[in-house]
Amino acid sequence: MSHAAITGWGKCLPPSVLTNQDLATFLPTDDEWITSRTGMKERRISHVPGIELAIVAAQRAIACAGLKGEDIDLVIYGSCSNDETVPNSASGVQQRIGATHAAAFDVNTACTSFMYGLSIGTAMIRTGVVRNAVVIGVELISQYMDWDNRNVAVLFGDGAAAVVLQHSDDELGVLAEKLQCYADSRHILRVRGMGTMYANLGTEYGQTSWDFDGQEIFRKAVQGMSEASLDVMRRVGVTMDDIALVVPHQANLRIIDAVAKRAGASADKVFLTVQKYGNMSSATAPVALVEAVETGRVAAGSLVLMPAFGGGLTLSSHLLRWGPRVTPLADCAVELPPSPKTALEIVNDIRAQKKLGEEGAKRFAALTFAENRGS
Ligand SMILES: CC(C)(COP(=O)(O)OP(=O)(O)OC[C@H]1O[C@@H](n2cnc3c(N)ncnc32)[C@H](O)[C@@H]1OP(=O)(O)O)[C@@H](O)C(=O)NCCC(=O)NCCS
Repeated sequence: MSHAAITGWGKCLPPSVLTNQDLATFLPTDDEWITSRTGMKERRISHVPGIELAIVAAQRAIACAGLKGEDIDLVIYGSCSNDETVPNSASGVQQRIGATHAAAFDVNTACTSFMYGLSIGTAMIRTGVVRNAVVIGVELISQYMDWDNRNVAVLFGDGAAAVVLQHSDDELGVLAEKLQCYADSRHILRVRGMGTMYANLGTEYGQTSWDFDGQEIFRKAVQGMSEASLDVMRRVGVTMDDIALVVPHQANLRIIDAVAKRAGASADKVFLTVQKYGNMSSATAPVALVEAVETGRVAAGSLVLMPAFGGGLTLSSHLLRWGPRVTPLADCAVELPPSPKTALEIVNDIRAQKKLGEEGAKRFAALTFAENRGS
């Protein structure tokens, strides 16, 4: 049987850091509340469009695999914050990485978009449709965040990561996964202001509000991720003792702790980035995976468990076997341009733009993204 090994990995975090103290300059919140309720200290805010983060992450992953853009047959762009809808974002990555004969499509299952993309890419390699795929998880949440809502504004950040999947005869990559959706709970996490249903309501660029039932999402996330993980382990015939590392979606440290406890994982087996990056939606799990490899936490040939959940409410758990290589075949010199603004300055620009009203927002939207952010 054919398998899809992960042979390349790369991440791209924007350099501007938004601290809990920064958030407290414009929201009724403080470092103590955010740290104790979520485990978060910092998150990143991007000065470039999301697709730029995705392109750098993809280029790093492709170099890591020792491949060139033209070797890639498939680009999957996992995100719920695309820069535009038509053309899709995956085609923009495809063009810039030079994957001239590839197929390219976007996947949106909110925070699980990368994980669903990983399943699709794996299935297409196993069935012989493609041999080499790049799967990206990327999010630019700062653009559609409701920065006046402390319930959600403290939780999220921007980022991207990518993996390269390659056909392999060895049993590597995704061994099994559980994909599911609690659709009856789709209303408890909704971003109002994105999509055609808002087109006639005077909703403009950046004018969003969030429906968000944090406690209910918390409960469903713990239940969904732990049950999916136990199901996957049962199907493969392994226990938590066989798993070297758990790399979960990072929406809240307390959710991660509860899932680990229910799934039987000790704290030292769980890889955390939530304190540094917050929740980057679909970028979260792949950034954590890439960082786990880069910091030597993933051993060659070991088993990695990746539970995740997101709006929808989608949920997933993937059991992976890592390959024999944990170092890149080649480095990649591509970098983002430096940010001309601090994270707080970027966020304050977005907040000001929201207050401009309909006409002002139209004028602001007519500017290019780079002009908006001073780059
Ligand atoms: C959002 C979340 C951190 C809230 O934690 P919690 O312990 O459930 O907190 P509560 O909802 O009980 O809120 C407690 C109080 O803190 C307040 N509060 C909320 N956000 C706050 C903030 N940033 N700073 C200070 N106080 C805040 C609430 O208004 C509430 O005040 P009240 O009791 O006077 O009404 C937590 O529920 C969570 O992480 N949920 C899931 C996260 C998620 O959905 N992520 C996205 C999906 S991938």
